[in-house]
Amino acid sequence: MSTKISVTAVNDLTAAQAEQELARLAEEIASHDQSYYQNDAPSVSDAEYDVLRRRNQEIEARFPDLVRDDTPSKKVGAAVTSGFAKVKHAVPMLSLGNAFNDEDVHDFFGRVRRFLGLKDDEQIEVVAEPKIDGLSISLRYENGEFALAATRGDGQEGENVTANVATMQEISKTIAAAVPDVLEVRGEVYLGHAAFQSINEQREKDNEATFANPRNAAAGSLRQLDSSITAQRPLQIFAYAWGELSAPIADTQWEFLQALKRWGFPVNPLARICASAEDAVAYHKEISELRADLDYDIDGIVYKVNRLDWQQRLGFVSRAPRWAIAHKFPAERAQTVLKEITIQVGRTGALTPVANLVPITVGGVVVSRATLHNADEIERKDIRQGDTVTIQRAGDVIPQVVEVILDKRPKDSTPFVFPDQCPECGSLAVREPDEAVIRCTGGLICPAQKLERLKHFVSRQAFDIDGLGGKHIDAFQAEGLVNTPGDIFRLHEHHEQLRQREGWGDKSVDNLIASIEQRRTIPLERFIYALGIRQVGQATGRQLALHYGSLMSWMTAMKQATSERQANPDEPKKAELVGEAFSGLCDIDGIGISMADDIVQFIGEPQNLAVIEDLAASLNVEDATQPDTSSSEIAGKIVVFTGTLETISRAEAKATAEALGAKVTGSVSKKTDYVVIGADPGSKATKARDLGIPVLSESEWQALIGS
Ligand code: IVH
Repeated sequence: MSTKISVTAVNDLTAAQAEQELARLAEEIASHDQSYYQNDAPSVSDAEYDVLRRRNQEIEARFPDLVRDDTPSKKVGAAVTSGFAKVKHAVPMLSLGNAFNDEDVHDFFGRVRRFLGLKDDEQIEVVAEPKIDGLSISLRYENGEFALAATRGDGQEGENVTANVATMQEISKTIAAAVPDVLEVRGEVYLGHAAFQSINEQREKDNEATFANPRNAAAGSLRQLDSSITAQRPLQIFAYAWGELSAPIADTQWEFLQALKRWGFPVNPLARICASAEDAVAYHKEISELRADLDYDIDGIVYKVNRLDWQQRLGFVSRAPRWAIAHKFPAERAQTVLKEITIQVGRTGALTPVANLVPITVGGVVVSRATLHNADEIERKDIRQGDTVTIQRAGDVIPQVVEVILDKRPKDSTPFVFPDQCPECGSLAVREPDEAVIRCTGGLICPAQKLERLKHFVSRQAFDIDGLGGKHIDAFQAEGLVNTPGDIFRLHEHHEQLRQREGWGDKSVDNLIASIEQRRTIPLERFIYALGIRQVGQATGRQLALHYGSLMSWMTAMKQATSERQANPDEPKKAELVGEAFSGLCDIDGIGISMADDIVQFIGEPQNLAVIEDLAASLNVEDATQPDTSSSEIAGKIVVFTGTLETISRAEAKATAEALGAKVTGSVSKKTDYVVIGADPGSKATKARDLGIPVLSESEWQALIGS
């Protein structure tokens, strides 16, 4: 198709001409999108395509009334998929154990040596390469043709992101060499720093929230439902492993990487063979010095035993291979000036001080804010506005202020005075006895608390409404669409206003409304948790739901407890002295007077009661039923989960255990029956072993519960 650009300057177009041209441009751009994104065969050069889009934009700017429903400026590209299908991995995608120092690396070599029964002088070669801070992906080729791309997901099952990965330039669609009929290549998808920065600059211009780091940006780009958006993000990949193979490829890890290179897959050029633990440690040091100059984020070095027959023998421990380990880099630190301390107000009114910094790059990410935790922390470290401070960033953790460089403190500096008023609503801010936190007493009068409560309401563990995240809540509240939780369930009344939002259309509105409708029926425990009552987390939400059974009986009891407590406002020595309903509440496992007080205080606020009644009128809150656990192995047992679980989320593991009648607690004591460990288990596992409590790997746990 040839490009048909009118020669008339935009300023000289009449409305009729403009209308005609917009129609033609919409059609033409759509057709180029189709060729480019879906048929993988661009019909015009990028430059010509850009000219068309720019012209379309200029005409729209001059004639806003003529903007078409199907304008290319609102809809980027062609392919819109409706969520991702799940894909079961033929070979699970595992993770890696960690080494945090040189000694851990020597231990790793020692373990390998002992496991294989090698003599002391036998060399153990490893392939060392940077650990890319991106997202792992599995690429499946059948008879040399790209057939499927899947994210790691929970390691067993990922999401089918084939359409998106197909837009990546570095991924060959056909391998021009003889390869096994089934070839699964695994690697890490990432975004370079330059690309990350330019995406964020664009997002800032478009008034969109920026990504916190390249990894998040890569994840956001890969998990786009609209693959034309992915196509605009220059995602890259390093290939480093394999999944299913119909025939062996190599005898060593190193040969495998060479084969990948020959077949056209990007392999990290820094990969190298190390002949000993000493070599490996030296490589780690060398790369850590190079790290700041790389255009991509790395968070450590991965060592993999080179001989594949040894890898085979070494096998796996639960979720990680015995033949590989990740040697992490220590947290990155940098010095910068703390310009100002501002106060953020959270869902329960907690005032959190935030350090606003002169922006500085730490490990490839620009940091401009760091948490200061609370007033005590500021006092303890004597952190003042104008100070030069050391900040630290590790992985995805929020940057922290480590210390003040006193030598650089300005002469006129004064200690920070924590406000005694909420900066958002002016209500009194108070510190309760024995609490580190200072809280705004404004409740729902405080706009910040109101907003944070709404965000909590839709969060994953609460209503978990697909496509309705915190950013939407920000926008919807600003646009007057959502002011209370109940408004979410009235959003369908604003169909027209929603579809006119920039970048939205009928389809996105329909999808959103459909996911909201799905959540109109909700289990009681989620409902209670979603309300955002102080101290009432998921576990308490569940306890309350199980104890009271239905929303109606919970509310009746809570109202009763509230009036009992209002009639007895003094600090009670015993819950029974307050009244029957209040003491009934305190008798529930895990709920004491302090938590009960938070609950009755919440219910005692007329505005909160109105929120609950409003929701109750339009939702179907499901009653909670006691699970039948009589036949379960773990009924009545006390279980602690620690470390990062690999195959399921912590929340799900806990839910499953509880469904089988176990009690899940957070700390190990003599009463604990089992401790289940994931990656990096830490001190709880040690304590369990010291106390002689059975410590189970994830797979042993699964065997125990018969899943
Ligand atoms: S090897 C069976 N090599 O790190 C082990 N992983 O923490 C296969 N990663 O899930 C992984 N760079 O997503 C390997 N050069 C590299 C890597 C790498 C990044 C990621 C990968 C894995 C995670 C484990």
